[in-house]
Amino acid sequence: MIRAILLFAVLMNLLTQLASAEVSVADFDSIEVFTLTNSNGMVVKATNYGAIITNIEVPDRKGNVADITLGYNDVSGYMNAVDKPYFGSVVGRYGNRIAKGKFTLDGTEYTLAINNYPNSLHGGIIGFDKVVWDAEIVGDKAVKFSYLAKDMEEGYPGNLNVSVTYTLTDENEIVIDYHATTDKSTPVNLTQHAYFNLKGEGEGTILDHELRINADLYTPVDNILIPTGDLAPVDGTPFDFREAKKIGQDIDQTDDQLSYGGGYDHNWVLNREKRDGELELAARLYEPTSGRVLEVLTTEPGIQFYCGNFLKGNLKGKSDKPYVYRGGLVLETQHFPDSPNQPNFPTTILKPGETLDSQTVFKFSVDNE
Ligand code: BGC
Repeated sequence: MIRAILLFAVLMNLLTQLASAEVSVADFDSIEVFTLTNSNGMVVKATNYGAIITNIEVPDRKGNVADITLGYNDVSGYMNAVDKPYFGSVVGRYGNRIAKGKFTLDGTEYTLAINNYPNSLHGGIIGFDKVVWDAEIVGDKAVKFSYLAKDMEEGYPGNLNVSVTYTLTDENEIVIDYHATTDKSTPVNLTQHAYFNLKGEGEGTILDHELRINADLYTPVDNILIPTGDLAPVDGTPFDFREAKKIGQDIDQTDDQLSYGGGYDHNWVLNREKRDGELELAARLYEPTSGRVLEVLTTEPGIQFYCGNFLKGNLKGKSDKPYVYRGGLVLETQHFPDSPNQPNFPTTILKPGETLDSQTVFKFSVDNE
């Protein structure tokens, strides 16, 4: 069942904050929150502001339900968040960094806003996380958000029609379908930026979670978090998650890559047995005290595992508990960072007449081990 709830109180709040808000007045009338529920009592809420997933409520092994994604109780929280954590949003037009905010396409150099000095991060100053999307309820289990990013918006070429559909299944899966078309060649890299803490949002760090990533290789970075272009083996490094291990196990090792990221903030190159475009398991996250499990499946070639190194405890979320250092982690299915400047990486250029179709599934369950 889907309920669309207009947030009148929130809107009034937003209207008093127009000076700091980064969307136009006309957009406010259409901000809504949609609630998806399934036959197991799982609840997912999403808003068309930034296509943000605001709540994911799932049971633990005893049947106790907790909200396991970081975020705020109202839209103004997302709009005014300090340090820009991108909680729950769809990031685009280009997820992750483009070096020095520059790329050349078909002989033309494009310049993007530098919002993460000296690079452009997550689509620029007003990325897809900060705009109001059109919303449409699809059937009784899905909501579809659509947005037209205009030619040269944030410096990117081409009018890009983009949509993301969230479907909640009775198998406790959030199925995320991205779709995009353009009228000029343009780089596109869309991902979901939900932060997870499987004990519950605000319940301490994620260092005790066990993670497996289905990848033999990762893309090392330089000291400004731009890939060097190498595909390096994880074997023998702290980046080896081929067997499940606690996130905290190797995170304090002396390692240049860990120091550049302040911990894990890297892209893994997913092992693929199936054909491109087919869903394959990318990562499995398990939290031993609750028994909650999250499996991430995707058609994308990479996954950015970011372990909340920039959270510092100054943000308080939905239950007024501080989001501490490494209090949430993000598993961003994606193409590789800085691909427009990296000839050896799979292309992220979408051309007129082509269609971008990408799917990611967040599947929740419990493990009784
Ligand atoms: C990036 C981090 C960045 C964070 C912002 C992640 O996707 O990899 O470097 O700080 O997003 O919340």
